Parts: sequence; structure tokens; C-alpha cells
Amino acid sequence: MKAAQLSYLVLFLLLQCGGANTLKQQFKEAPQFYNSPKCPYIEKDICSEEAVHVAMTLDTTYIRGSMAAILSVLQHSSCPENTYFHLVCSSNANASLLGATMSTSFPYLKFQLHSFQDDIVSGLISTSIRSALDCPLNYARSYLANLIPLCVKRVVYLDSDLILVDDIAKLATTSLGPHHVLAAPEYCNANFTSYFTTTFWSNPSLSLTFSDRKACYFNTGVMVIDLERWRQGDYTAKIEEWMELQKRMRIYQLGSLPPFLLVFAGNIVPVDHRWNQHGLGGDNYRGLCRDLHPGPVSLLHWSGKGKPWVRLDANRPCPLDALWSPYDLLRIPTPFSLDS
Ligand SMILES: *[C@@H]1O[C@H](CO)[C@@H](O)[C@H](O)[C@H]1NC(C)=O
Ligand SMILES: *[C@@H]1O[C@H](CO)[C@@H](O)[C@H](O)[C@H]1NC(C)=O
Repeated sequence: MKAAQLSYLVLFLLLQCGGANTLKQQFKEAPQFYNSPKCPYIEKDICSEEAVHVAMTLDTTYIRGSMAAILSVLQHSSCPENTYFHLVCSSNANASLLGATMSTSFPYLKFQLHSFQDDIVSGLISTSIRSALDCPLNYARSYLANLIPLCVKRVVYLDSDLILVDDIAKLATTSLGPHHVLAAPEYCNANFTSYFTTTFWSNPSLSLTFSDRKACYFNTGVMVIDLERWRQGDYTAKIEEWMELQKRMRIYQLGSLPPFLLVFAGNIVPVDHRWNQHGLGGDNYRGLCRDLHPGPVSLLHWSGKGKPWVRLDANRPCPLDALWSPYDLLRIPTPFSLDS
């Protein structure tokens, strides 16, 4: 590849992956949220075990979604002041811009930015069917145990395209039992076979991976993770081993999800489905609107290709996108504004 071609590719990846150094959008300030009287008092210190620790990624492409998610967490939490956000930015992103944007919209938020070295994974990523899934930051969820301070024992990982309509403490306090590392809603009716290629299933030494467990699909957009157990078992290295193999022989199609399934499927604590009403983004091919799954709802997740803010801006919203808009902090430009 010529140098010019290579630099176009790098530029394309930077834009595609939220690496733009400026933000065209402006955001409103969120209201302040207060603890209810029965909340334990926690010090400002980040190590508090009584705090709910939430990890999310932050970039210029998805920041509008991240802000809506954070607002929804605070609004429905009985102890919003005891919620601590760990925001993971790409090392190539303008962290001061992202941090300043967050502080302006959430002046009272307890948060820390953590820098994720893109090049850790960029050599491990093979292209998937949806290019947005190939951005290095999408893989940051596999590295949380290295990014978040060692004193933090448990974290709730959340994608940026979701909102909560229930108290996150209920999810965060899910019991992980004596030895489980991860809890998430599990879907045993989903066709598990379809997440891996025939190359995988026809190779006995590979397909044996699932022989001694009842492996079910789970979505990696909402997970409760015991970081101490993760570190003890070095699960980051286990995920990386599967990514190395994927580079040599194509064992799956999607991006960061299959390695999680390979390591954890069948070994997680199942969480009530209300905590991940997923798929509201529609399917990856035609972008059709999706309805809610039956049952109660604590978290709405626009996984899939369509994002509510994109559809709302294009004046082609899906019916359920109306549930996302109340959390949108985008400042609508006033007509005839003199700002340039
Ligand atoms: C990062 O953002 C800040 C604040 O908007 C801006 O002043 C600075 O020039 C940006 N840095 C880069 C490297 O683009
Ligand atoms: C599950 O998916 C596999 C591979 O995509 C397919 O061959 C199989 O027929 C599917 N099974 C069911 C029950 O739909």
C-alpha cells in the first residue's frame, strides 16, 4: 500500500471510530441529582465499595448517546451521588475535549477518564460484518480490569446506546456467588451455532470448547463484572488468545462479542431479561424497527445498526425512539443564531 493510501485509511478509521478532535454538537447542562436520605454516605474517594461503579466508553461519535445513558442512570438511581463513572477514551482521542464536555453538562458527576491504548487491539482486530464494530474502543470492555483502578472490585459495563429506567443499584448488586466473574441476561433460545463459522464447528478441538457447558448467547452491552476475579483468572489474556486465533482462521463473523462467548458462555450468572431489552436499533441489514420483547423493562438498548439520535435527526424515528428523546442533552441550535 502506498503511503498516501495508508494515510487515507488511517483518517477513515479515525473518523469512523470517533477520533474526530472537535465536536460540532453542543450539549445542555443536566440537572443535579441528590441521594435519598437512606443512602450510605461515601467519601469522594474512588475506592468506595458502597459506590456503584459504572464503566462506559466515550468518543465524539457516540457522546450524545453516552450522555443520555448517564442522565438516565442518575435520574432513576436512588443514590445518584454514590454512582461513579469510569469513562474509557481512545488514546488517540482528544481527552481534554471529551472531559471538558462531560464536566460542562454534568458539573456534579463523579467520573474519571481512562485512556485506552488503541494499538493493544488494532493488531488483533479482523474485519467484521459491521465496520462500526471494528473500532478498537469497542474492545475496551475486555480491558476494564487493567484500566480501572485496582481498588475497584466490581463494575457495571454499559454500552452508549442504551437508557435505564430503573435503579442501577439493583443490577450492580447482582450476586455473583462464590466464583462467577460475570453476570448478564442470557438468551438460551437464540441460535448459538450461528455466532460461529463452520470452520469453528467442524474443528473438533475448537468446538469442544463448549462441550462441558450449557452455552447460551448473552449480549456484552450490559454486564456486571467482578474485576478481582477477572484479574485473578487473567480473562483479558484468554479473550486475546481467541482473537489471535480468529486472525489465523475465521471462527466468527462479529467483532468483540464472540470472544466473550468463547470464554464465558455457560459460565455466567443470568440476570433478568428486563436489564437488557436489546435489538432496538434494528437488524444489521435492513434497519427495520424492532418492538420490545415481552416482559418488564429496566433498560432499553438500541443495539443493532440504527441509533435513536440518528433516526430522530433524520426525521425517521422508530416508535420506541420516543423513549430515548427525553434523555437527549443536545442543545438544539436556535434559528437565526449569530453564532458561527
Ligand atoms: C482538543 O480540544 C481542545 C478543546 O476543544 C482544543 O483546544 C485542542 O486544540 C484540541 N486538541 C487537538 C489535538 O485537536
Ligand atoms: C442455527 O444456525 C445454524 C448456522 O447458521 C443453521 O445451520 C441452523 O439451521 C440453525 N438452527 C436453527 C434451529 O435455526
